[in-house]
Amino acid sequence: MNNMMSRIRSRTIMAALMMVLLVSVGGAMAAGGQLEMDFYSNTCPHVEAIVREEMLKILREAPSLAGPLLRLHFHDCFVRGCDGSVLLDSTPTNTAEKDATPNLTLRGFGSVQRIKDRLEQACPGTVSCADILALMARDAVALANGPSWPVSLGRRDGRVSMANETTQLPPPTANFTRLVQMFGAKGLDIKDLVVLSGGHTLGTAHCNLFSDRLYNFTGANNDADVDPALDAAYLARLKSRCRSLADNVTLNEMDPGSFLSFDAGYYRLVAKRRGLFHSDSQLLANPVTRAYVQRQATGRFVHEFFNDFAQSMVKMSSVDVLTGDQGEIRKKCYLVN
Ligand code: HEM
Repeated sequence: MNNMMSRIRSRTIMAALMMVLLVSVGGAMAAGGQLEMDFYSNTCPHVEAIVREEMLKILREAPSLAGPLLRLHFHDCFVRGCDGSVLLDSTPTNTAEKDATPNLTLRGFGSVQRIKDRLEQACPGTVSCADILALMARDAVALANGPSWPVSLGRRDGRVSMANETTQLPPPTANFTRLVQMFGAKGLDIKDLVVLSGGHTLGTAHCNLFSDRLYNFTGANNDADVDPALDAAYLARLKSRCRSLADNVTLNEMDPGSFLSFDAGYYRLVAKRRGLFHSDSQLLANPVTRAYVQRQATGRFVHEFFNDFAQSMVKMSSVDVLTGDQGEIRKKCYLVN
């Protein structure tokens, strides 16, 4: 009798465990599991070729857009998931993400719409703006001599974009704990943080986004109030470029000399305490991320970084996506239907 009772009890526990497992797998499916490699194979079979062809033209005309187009996808995915919400314009009754402070320096919206227009001609009402961003980011990196990765498709476009939700984007002043929290909130771990930060091998930054490190690090606002985590020689060079705290015009290459090319140069800079942002320097504040930075700084493991970057991008590209009958397929990327 006792034996039978304990068998029944363990079966009940097993059944309960199976339920928990099924519910959590089901949850993951609902969030991102419906993205598929061949999602448009019947409805828009040439989607990837069309994006690639346009990206070639776009980057030939304006090579400096590779960085901004990668950043657009990152800023899309961190607010409401990769749902194209970053692309929506403000309306008379709503201030959209696009018009919030962290997004005022985004570029490349015209290029997204250019590709959307071509896809609307080829397969009207079919390909989401969110998918277009994911493909453009991938092609931007690949065409800048970086890695490539498979992009699963089927994201739907959101109908909501709110400026006040951009507080979910990590600021350049963030310390390590905050960066880990903000990435963690999107299902991304410490490795993703150190790997995806390598995206700063591409592109430029405005002085005012790091000039607190040069002039006003603790709020004392004088010449000596500098970020001690910044290399002294680099600090002097940056001060000669960024003349005041308020300079929001001067641009600085984040990986000087190779800001158009995707490589491991970012880690060499960070290892030498020459990352532009306080957030970059914070990768040296933790043993795991410091070890990664130092390994990549040797320049001997670039293939590893490329693999890691591809993997982390696949993860970031599926954060909180809308699928199935959620959201919509916008006709214009800057307007809800
Ligand atoms: C770790 C937290 C991050 C912080 C605090 C951060 C912050 C920033 C800031 C302040 C800028 C300068 C914008 C400007 O002045 O125009 C910038 C640029 C950029 N970021 Fe990040 N970022 C982070 C992570 C990422 C990630 C994950 C990616 C992509 C995988 C990325 C890609 C870029 C690119 C490519 C640029 C250059 C854009 C351009 O050339 O206009 N960043 N970032």
